[in-house]
Formats: sequence, C-alpha cells, structure tokens
Amino acid sequence: MPRIKKLTAFEILDSRGRPTIWARCELGGGGVGEASVPSGASTGRAEALELRDGDPRRYRGLGCLKAVRNIQEIIADSLVGEELAEQQALDHALIALDGTPDKTRLGANATLAVSLSFARAAANASQQCLFEYLAAAIQNDTPHLPRPTINLFSGGKHAGGQVPIQDCLVVPVSARTIDEAMAMTFEVYQSAAELIAEKYGTRALTADEGGLAPPFPSVEAMFQDAVEAIRKAGLTPGEDVCIALDIASSQFFHNGRYFLDKEGINAKEMIQVLTGWQEKYPIVSIEDGLAEEDWEHWPQLRSAIGERCLVLGDDLLCTNPARIRKAIEARAANALLLKVNQIGTLTEAAEAFRLARSDGWAVTVSARSGETEDNWLADLAVGWSGDQIKVGSITQSERLAKYNRLLLIERQSGLTMRPMTGV
Ligand code: PGA
Ligand code: ZN
Repeated sequence: MPRIKKLTAFEILDSRGRPTIWARCELGGGGVGEASVPSGASTGRAEALELRDGDPRRYRGLGCLKAVRNIQEIIADSLVGEELAEQQALDHALIALDGTPDKTRLGANATLAVSLSFARAAANASQQCLFEYLAAAIQNDTPHLPRPTINLFSGGKHAGGQVPIQDCLVVPVSARTIDEAMAMTFEVYQSAAELIAEKYGTRALTADEGGLAPPFPSVEAMFQDAVEAIRKAGLTPGEDVCIALDIASSQFFHNGRYFLDKEGINAKEMIQVLTGWQEKYPIVSIEDGLAEEDWEHWPQLRSAIGERCLVLGDDLLCTNPARIRKAIEARAANALLLKVNQIGTLTEAAEAFRLARSDGWAVTVSARSGETEDNWLADLAVGWSGDQIKVGSITQSERLAKYNRLLLIERQSGLTMRPMTGV
C-alpha cells in the first residue's frame, strides 16, 4: 500500500510569469512524482479558491508562499507516513484536512499540486504511464486520444479585448490521428497569420494562449477570417475543419444584458445571435454562450442549438459536481469543460467527469490561460477518454508540452482518436 515518505513544494512561475506551485511526492518503497498547477485569468465565480499571498510588495499580491507552506507544513504533517490505498484515499484525506466546501483553508492550488504529484508517484511506483494510472483510477478500460481544439484567434481577457469573445478555435474534424490534427492546424494557423498580415497590415500579436489577435472590426469578421484561413490552407470548412468558440460571456454580462457592443442585448437576443452564428458558420461547440449565473436561459440555449452543437459549460459548471447535477436536471448544457484546478483534486474532477458522462454529455478537458511546461493534462485527457482537449494555440512551449505528449502517447501506445461526434 502506498505510503507518502516525503512531500515538498516550491513556488515556480507560470506562462504569464506569475507564481504557481510545483510539488514533489516521494512514496515509501519507491515511486516519485512531480507536478505543477496552472492558473486561470477569466475564472468562474464558483471555482475553488486559488490561494495567493495578497502581499502587494511581492508579485503584486500573487505570491504562492502560503499555499507552499500549507503543503510543506499542514499537508505533509498530516499525511507523511500515512498509508493511502489509492488516489481516492489521498484526495479524501486532502478534502477532510481542508474541511471547507471550496478549499479556502489550504487552497485548491495546494491540494491539486499534491493530488497530481501523488498520482505521478503512484504511477511511477506501479510502472505505469500516467494515463494508464489515471484510466485505472476511474476504471476506464478503453482510453482514447482526445480531439484537439486549438486556439486560432483570441479576444476578451486573454488578448486586448479586440473582440469581446475569448477564443475562436479550430477543430480538425477529419483528422484521424493527433499527428494529422496538428499538421492540419499548422496549415490553418500559418494561413491565418498570412491573411492577417495582408488584411490588417500588422504582424498579428499573440494572446495569452498563443492565439492571433488582430484588430478585427467585428466578431463576424473574425469568423469569416477563420473560414477563409481554413480554405486558404486547402481544407474544407465544416468537413475538414470546424470552429469552436469560447464566448466567456460572463465577462461582458452586466445587469441582465450581454454587451457584445455598447448597446447590449438581453438573453433571448443573445441566444438568437449565437443560433445565427451557429447556422451561418461551421461551429460545433459553443462554450459559456451565456453567463455563469444566467441559469434561467441556459436550457433555452440548449434547446436552440444543442442538437447540432456542444453547449459547453465552463464558468457555468466550474468542474463542480453540485453545479453539474443542477445543470443535468435543468437540461442547461450538454458538455462539460473539465479543469481540474477549478475543484482542487483529481477525485472530485473524476466525479464531475462521471456525472457529465452519466447524462451522455461530451467532455472537453482543458488547460488554463496560465500554464506551465508540465504535460499531465494530456495524460488526463487520454486516461479518462475526454472527447476533446483544449490547450491553446501551437506557438508556445507551455501549450506544445501537452501536444507533444499527445503525439508521443499516440506513437508509443497505439491508441486511437474517435471520430468527431455530432458533426
Ligand atoms: P482561463 O480561461 O484559464 O483564463 O480561466 C480559459 C477558459 O475560459 O476556457
Ligand atoms: Zn472558458
């Protein structure tokens, strides 16, 4: 039975140069695991607490030394020497030690760093790949490669607000392998960069997740450029490559109105706008089309487009089992965006995953806008057979670390990617 021999943690920096946590777990009898945790910028209100120091003299309050201390002292004091039968036992011990509904005592960044480093250590001890260990942890006998959904254009909080919506992603639906998906995406990205240089006369700046962010005159201009870039790459929009959107609409929702422009529109009009876009462009997934607290209207959005498009909840659900249960009952969504740091342990994220699957939802396993070079997300998406993975663009190493891991898993394991459903 695994026993934690030593637990250490340090503050390191994420892809925005902000502090985050790295942890190392050593098991008695062998098995060592290291992992680091990501951090969001357009966070959902219901996310578990990411503990920051709040000291304005250091990293403008963003330091993670308190969370590091929580691992080194509180968690290590309590768990070192304990026998922990498996991942669930470790995670339940962390949940109990924290004792709050949203990890306000220890910080979800602290608990997740321990949860993940333990997973790596346990995988290492049993001579399994991380994805094999994660698959076994949820009794998944048929791991699959997820289909990449890749940032082409960025707006909102991840860029300079050029357009109000956050991500326009490409989905290489005709790709049969990760290898093909990446090669197709490269062509589209390069075509889009050339297009932008011609159209806007600028070398397009890239946003937090590596998406291109030129000064689009409108949201629809962005979709048109995406479709044009797909064509320019010699591919067929809607057949080879589709579009996924993260509207991140909580960011521009105020007093019951959605401010796509200065005027603002109500929820019904917002649903009409989204439906119109979905009908006009090859859009297969719309994330956070409505705001995180607009529960009343989400079911209407699902009725309007849910037969032909994923109605994907990120801020709405926050990988939180209670919110997913509520959404299943209300028929508010048909897909889950899974971000483990929104909830703080692998076991709670697994419960969120299982719930979503129990109602036939699709799952997109997602990175955060602030990432590290750690690649566990790829193993998670494979081990749990996520339908899609959302990592960002193909230009920055904290993103490529995950794509490269997928490429290696594909080559080394012989696992396959399922055909895109619902297209
Ligand atoms: P975040 O954004 O990581 O900045 O929260 C990602 C998303 O909204 O999907
Ligand atoms: Zn989102």
